[in-house]
Amino acid sequence: MIQFLLHNTLVVERDLDPTLTVLQYLRQHKRRTGTKEGCGSGDCGACTVALGREEQGRMCYETVNACLMPVSALHGKQLITVEDLRQEGALHPVQQAVVDLHASQCGFCTPGIVISLFVLQKESEGWDLQLTEQALAGNLCRCTGYRPIMAAARYLCEQPIEDSYTREEILTATRLKALKEGAETLNEGARQYFIPDALEKLAAYYLRYPQARLLAGGTDLMLEMAQAGYGRPPLISLAQVATLRRWHMDDSYIHLGAGVTITQCEKLLHAQIPAFARALQRFASRQIRNRATLAGNIANASPIGDTPPMLLALDAELLLQRGSDQRTLPLRDFFLAYRQTALVESEFIREILIPRGELLDNFQAWKVSKRSDDDISIVFGAFSLQIQQGRVVNARIAFGGMDAIPRRAERCEQALLHQPWNRATVTAACQALEQDFTPLSDARASAEYRLQVARNLLLRYYYWLQGEEFEMETAHHVA
Ligand SMILES: Cc1cc2nc3c(=O)[nH]c(=O)nc-3n(C[C@H](O)[C@H](O)[C@H](O)COP(=O)(O)OP(=O)(O)OC[C@H]3O[C@@H](n4cnc5c(N)ncnc54)[C@H](O)[C@@H]3O)c2cc1C
Ligand code: FES
Ligand code: FES
Repeated sequence: MIQFLLHNTLVVERDLDPTLTVLQYLRQHKRRTGTKEGCGSGDCGACTVALGREEQGRMCYETVNACLMPVSALHGKQLITVEDLRQEGALHPVQQAVVDLHASQCGFCTPGIVISLFVLQKESEGWDLQLTEQALAGNLCRCTGYRPIMAAARYLCEQPIEDSYTREEILTATRLKALKEGAETLNEGARQYFIPDALEKLAAYYLRYPQARLLAGGTDLMLEMAQAGYGRPPLISLAQVATLRRWHMDDSYIHLGAGVTITQCEKLLHAQIPAFARALQRFASRQIRNRATLAGNIANASPIGDTPPMLLALDAELLLQRGSDQRTLPLRDFFLAYRQTALVESEFIREILIPRGELLDNFQAWKVSKRSDDDISIVFGAFSLQIQQGRVVNARIAFGGMDAIPRRAERCEQALLHQPWNRATVTAACQALEQDFTPLSDARASAEYRLQVARNLLLRYYYWLQGEEFEMETAHHVA
């Protein structure tokens, strides 16, 4: 059974396919067709809806892609769609601004854009161009053009807006708090779906059903199930396990629970590892980052995931759990082969540990992709070097997009170690990258291009550490 608020109506669902997407649920079960389907794969934002959650007695809102979110993940949340914005028969101020500032033409993207603006207005304190661009980067509009949309965003952020959501905030938060407990399963026919609310229960379910799939944010798994017509294995949700959503720091490590989302990482790491947080701003779209977890990004073992190269360059470790047994594994030993990891049956990632040592000092990372926003990496490079008295005393260099797994460039690191830190050393280290990697050519880029980009990123790092600007040195052709 799951319970959630659809706007301010309590909904209780007992018998529902747990992998039904929120989009299918809204359009087919609730006949709410305001939320549109464009791509069905998290790319266009036409299906954007707002999710409200209670935090310390107040409401926090975020955008998500309804096409990738399983309905089971609604438990304990408030779901707001474009139909819920009208107030006492009048357009919501966000809708009115879109009309007044001519921010819609054909209207297909408009419900999603209106919801993104609604959340932006609620969560921002005044106008901020960068935050607005990030809020809208996952909403593709093919005809209006973004100038009037940005004008509407600016108008909305520059003034306080009181609506029924602000007036009823405390009441809504109290109602949601009362809903948080109580969901254990949501089944339809033979499909089993478990929603444990404690780590021990999660571990016990996974021991009992080793063939089950773990569902975190679902941004990979929902797509995999939709596209591959995946069978019907039991599913175990990580969403209600509070321990997994926690983070803390001690003298040695930053500990990030497996349920911490990319958006949360952006905020949490902003002060500790600014370059990491900045790189995450180019991870998919805001809607995806609000759902995607750091652990999911590691566990799916994609060769082009954005966070593994950064975590490898920081010597991160994973706390893994199976039943009540735990072990710590360096991330460099986690990726075995294409999409294969060192996780054994019924084992899951419980925590990601980032050492707080000197590797943080000179850490830098860059993503190279065809579009700057909402695009997958061609090459992702992450770097951390220690230089003492002009010599390299420690080197961590890791890449994604260069091999079947994200991994360190060990020959390149060796070419730097104990050498004077100058352009000649870096040139030699760039050459060594050829011994480290034989990249693939695919639809995103040729092998030659990837190798050149990796070299250029190392050079960029050299100039960045010198405090100088870097101009790309070569032609940029993408096969
Ligand atoms: C439109 C779009 C754009 C994207 N852009 C990017 C991008 O720019 N950069 C990028 O790196 N990725 C991108 N992704 C991929 C995806 O968002 C990330 O990989 C995400 O971090 C996965 O996390 P999740 O919580 O959604 O995982 P899920 O989809 O829930 O799970 C992914 C896999 O990890 C397993 N898993 C999850 N949690 C655990 C755990 N604790 N222990 C063990 N196994 C676990 C699941 O069983 C599953 O096999 C994009 C995806 C989409 C749809
Ligand atoms: S329909 Fe395109 S992102 Fe959901
Ligand atoms: S108004 Fe037509 S796609 Fe945006």
